[in-house]
Amino acid sequence: MMKIGIPQEVMTGEGRVALIPEACESLIKAGYSVCLQRHAGENSGYSDLEYENCGVEIVATAEQLYQSAQLIIKVKQPLDQDIGYLTNRHVLFSYLHLAADLGLIHTLCDIGLTAIPFESIADNNGALPLLAPMSQVAGRIAAIRGASLLFTNRGGRGVLLGGVDGADTGRVVVLGAGVAGSHAVAVLAALGAKVDVLDLDAKKLESLKRLHPMIETHLSDAQRVETLCQDADLVVGAVLLAGRRAPVVLKRSVVKQMNAGSVIVDIAIDQGGCVEGIRSTSSEELCYVDNGVIHSAVPNMPAAVARTASQSLSSAILPYVLTLAGTDFDQLGQSDSVQARAIHAAIAIHRGEVVDEILQQELAVEESLLI
Ligand SMILES: NC(=O)c1ccc[n+]([C@@H]2O[C@H](COP(=O)([O-])OP(=O)(O)OC[C@H]3O[C@@H](n4cnc5c(N)ncnc54)[C@H](O)[C@@H]3O)[C@@H](O)[C@H]2O)c1
Repeated sequence: MMKIGIPQEVMTGEGRVALIPEACESLIKAGYSVCLQRHAGENSGYSDLEYENCGVEIVATAEQLYQSAQLIIKVKQPLDQDIGYLTNRHVLFSYLHLAADLGLIHTLCDIGLTAIPFESIADNNGALPLLAPMSQVAGRIAAIRGASLLFTNRGGRGVLLGGVDGADTGRVVVLGAGVAGSHAVAVLAALGAKVDVLDLDAKKLESLKRLHPMIETHLSDAQRVETLCQDADLVVGAVLLAGRRAPVVLKRSVVKQMNAGSVIVDIAIDQGGCVEGIRSTSSEELCYVDNGVIHSAVPNMPAAVARTASQSLSSAILPYVLTLAGTDFDQLGQSDSVQARAIHAAIAIHRGEVVDEILQQELAVEESLLI
């Protein structure tokens, strides 16, 4: 039985905690030991005392946390501050986005640990139940952020997305009709914006159109992206090819045709971004301007609503943490439990070896480019 450790997140602006006290209580009642790095829950409004009252052991430092626990449950991928504490006895369960950061794969392999990305856990229908809650949050934030960056005092083109009598309605293009895209659409449609949504999946477009009859939906191709995006006030990037680096959907040449003060919010930045050449921004530097267009690409968008996001993430991962902590690691693939088999299929790195086929392909491409 692996002892569970919840470290404090270190990414800029990150206030989420992977498991809230209620979830820890369930784990402890099930017989597991849980430790938490001091203050890890505070930015989500959960005090150390609340955790202690549930039976969680509070440890003072990250070093103690990583020494004490074997199963590390984190929100975001480990950064330099965490890396030094990880060893080959650790199992790391967190968002990792490894296809967008091959350097991190090499680092985790050198350590010799086992890593399971939240975003690779799939259900029987191919849906991603541990990515979905944060995609819901990020999609909703993208709409709100995009709307506010369009304000004149934020450097935007001074467009109110919903429009008013006698004025133009704001035009928004959403790239991707998946979880993040459809949650962005829900807010944008409620604001009254003119929304065009593009995806490669006709069924997803149809069901989104049924929910929001006022939007326009289109099968995505380069020409359509160019035609719609060049006139948009706001473009929201929300595409995903599961396990892979995000595809470039919005080319630089199209961004250059967009109006000064228009806005791009690229949610897919955690997988490398779907806008050509876009770079990460953060809660401290929310956006930058390039070719007159405002670019926002925060890899941890849900951190802005840390309490909501922690609650939602914690309840989604809890069944998987219960399974992972209690199952012999080498038996996961043979288990009757759906969760155990999903965890087994999602393992990216096992004891220092890359076992995920997509990542193996990405590394092979990297190697061939080095020759
Ligand atoms: N920045 C953040 O804080 C944050 C938070 C949560 C999720 N995300 C990211 O948001 C992205 C979307 O996640 P999701 O859960 O909505 O994924 P999803 O799988 O539910 O939806 C992605 C959609 O993109 C579509 N797609 C793929 N290639 C396309 C293309 N070339 N053109 C048009 N559509 C295309 C797919 O058909 C799918 O419908 C992911 O990269 C995810 O990691 C980011």
